[in-house]
Amino acid sequence: MTKSKCRNRAAGVILLAAVAVTIPCAVAQFPGMPPPKHYAWSDTSLSPDARADMVIKELTLEEKISLLHGNGFSFGMNGSTESNGGAGYSVSIPRVGIPAIQMADSAYGVTRGAASGRYSTALPNNLAAASSWDPQAAFAYGALIGKELREEGYSMSLGGGVNLPREPRNGRTFEYQGEDPLLAGTLVGNFVKGVQSEHIIGDLKHYAINDQESGRNAVNAKIDKRSMRETDLRAFEIALKISDAGAFMCSYNRVNGDFACENSYLLTDVLKKDFHFQGFVLSDWGGTHSTAKASHAGLDQEQPGKGFFGDALKKAVDGGEVSQDEINDHVHRILRAIFATGLFDNPIVKRVPDVEGGYVVAKCIAEKSIVLLKNEHSVLPLEGAGLRSVALIGGHADVGVLTGGGSAQVDPPGGSAVPPPPAGSNPMAAFMRQAWLPSSPLRALAAKLPSVTVSYNSGDDLAATADAAKKANVAIVFAYQWESEGMDLKTLALSDEQNRLIETVAAANPKTIVVIESGSPVTMPWIDKVAGVVEAWYPGIRGAEALADLLTGKVNPSGKLAITFPKSDTDLPHPTIVLPPPTSQQSRPTPGADISSVMAMMAKGLPAFETNYDEKLKVGYKWYDAEKKPVLFPFGFGLSYTTYAYSGLTVKGGESTEVSFTVRNAGKRAGTEIAQVYASLPDAAGEPPKRLVGWTRVELAPGESKKVSIPVDRERLTIYDEASDSWSLIPGSYNVLVGGSSQDLPLHQQLTLP
Ligand code: BGC
Repeated sequence: MTKSKCRNRAAGVILLAAVAVTIPCAVAQFPGMPPPKHYAWSDTSLSPDARADMVIKELTLEEKISLLHGNGFSFGMNGSTESNGGAGYSVSIPRVGIPAIQMADSAYGVTRGAASGRYSTALPNNLAAASSWDPQAAFAYGALIGKELREEGYSMSLGGGVNLPREPRNGRTFEYQGEDPLLAGTLVGNFVKGVQSEHIIGDLKHYAINDQESGRNAVNAKIDKRSMRETDLRAFEIALKISDAGAFMCSYNRVNGDFACENSYLLTDVLKKDFHFQGFVLSDWGGTHSTAKASHAGLDQEQPGKGFFGDALKKAVDGGEVSQDEINDHVHRILRAIFATGLFDNPIVKRVPDVEGGYVVAKCIAEKSIVLLKNEHSVLPLEGAGLRSVALIGGHADVGVLTGGGSAQVDPPGGSAVPPPPAGSNPMAAFMRQAWLPSSPLRALAAKLPSVTVSYNSGDDLAATADAAKKANVAIVFAYQWESEGMDLKTLALSDEQNRLIETVAAANPKTIVVIESGSPVTMPWIDKVAGVVEAWYPGIRGAEALADLLTGKVNPSGKLAITFPKSDTDLPHPTIVLPPPTSQQSRPTPGADISSVMAMMAKGLPAFETNYDEKLKVGYKWYDAEKKPVLFPFGFGLSYTTYAYSGLTVKGGESTEVSFTVRNAGKRAGTEIAQVYASLPDAAGEPPKRLVGWTRVELAPGESKKVSIPVDRERLTIYDEASDSWSLIPGSYNVLVGGSSQDLPLHQQLTLP
């Protein structure tokens, strides 16, 4: 097997090298930027706080307030000349050299390219990338996005989604990083660190408990403090610690009664006080509902309009309802982010993005993200003299790979590879159209297998498909589940047509493999009838090429699930999603409707309905463990073309616990194993059966053994006590468990902590 660039020891270096930036001096400065000038606050030896304070002293109240709100969408609502065409912006103040903050959605790449004729790299979606369990890859992912934002004239990323999938049918699960707070927080933290390494402001969103799209502008998420702090908020806390993110986006929903963007517990008590967040909080688009209440609670910037933080805020200051100090604090946080990320010192310059460099990063990450779920009788990799024909079936595998929709949508170069239905004049319709990237599995696989006949059949005619499948040595069905902001999935099941297609092909050919493109787990009623299953997620602009390398064994799969695949929807903590009553439903604008009327309706605040997260601490694998529900594929699971053996566990307790063990590659191919460490807490802690406390990626040649050591910080073992509002370590007996998935933990050892 040839060595892949992504697999070797220098993978991180290659990824990072591919995104290193050098800004040529001949490039014109981005229009709208003030000319370089030396101000007292240009002194980079001063702290970002000191520099921010110096600027504040120069500003009038009007100028301060101009920083505390947006100025409309690029499409609709008082579009302004300073807009770079992104989701929103705050104005520049050229007099003092403060640049505009130009914001673009950028969860898996820079968005809204089509509207402005720009190209950007569509990376594998976020949940896909989380399957790499690779913080270095997460950094490279963020750094590429930061670089392309800068090249396209933006200075702030609206990415960094880290909501835990209490509801995996949430249409935005593809934008998040899975169900474990340590894994998700670590990866998103590195993503934002990567974005900010390009002197672009990064943000973390959607803060918090924004776990369903149905009725998102009205829903009141009910959840106890301990569960929030140990799970959902823990992910944000870890991500912030790693990244020092410049911004947090508060979410649309209510949490325990108050809208997240005017929730003083979330914004002030937890985020600004306990987490020591020093950046600014901006509202999700249309998520501001008040002036004084939101300002007091800790909202720093309204987006995308100024209904509450424009004239109304000035009036509140003049009337003494909001103090000058409070305004200065909001402004300080925004200016601090501009200085701390280096945006002030590194003005934005537009350039043509490095398309080829983006491909390299996208393919490397896809190779690490795709998860091999089933491989009976080693049906994969596709190799050997007997292999003469492979039939690809369905899922538009002749032309492209699927992407996730909504505000995260990265526009495919050249338009969608599968033509979408016309959007008409309604901007919201374009927002929610399926888009396919031009990365063709058929072409990519045919290129890897030059002496094999690789054919494509759409799967529309079941009899003809069965015939094609029967005639081929191997049949690969491409199944997909599209998701998007603005909707939830009714079920994790594939459509009936796709399930029928898989059953038909499996009946025709015992060597049937299913490749799934999805943003959430899917259920598989046909699992026992197929030989192989590969979860490809939404694999990005070089997804098919990465998939072809994995299917043919050029690359050995290493991805592991960051989210549990349940057997059925009925096994989820909430068998059905709580839907909003009609009065709490956000109406969609009809063609030609004025978006500002929709925004005004949202601003008023729709009547609340409740979703009760009564599974509490039991998110993801913790739920299935505690409820003893068998799953289809557990958290942390993923196969390889080799096998790994674990031995020699030693656990040393102390301020930080040191977990050491040996991993051996017991097979004949080189590979990378993601070795995982879990801990069971003493009974007195009242916790679910176990939690992830560490992991490492181990690269191993055939037959090679490596001893690895994983430090487990004390913090990873603590629990949150609501009564004392503090974290504590419960004395007693801990069980440390080690292995290759949350349900394959061959090594264990007790550890007594005082
Ligand atoms: C989404 C955010 C996004 C914003 C701006 C909202 O609808 O929830 O994630 O950043 O729009 O496009």
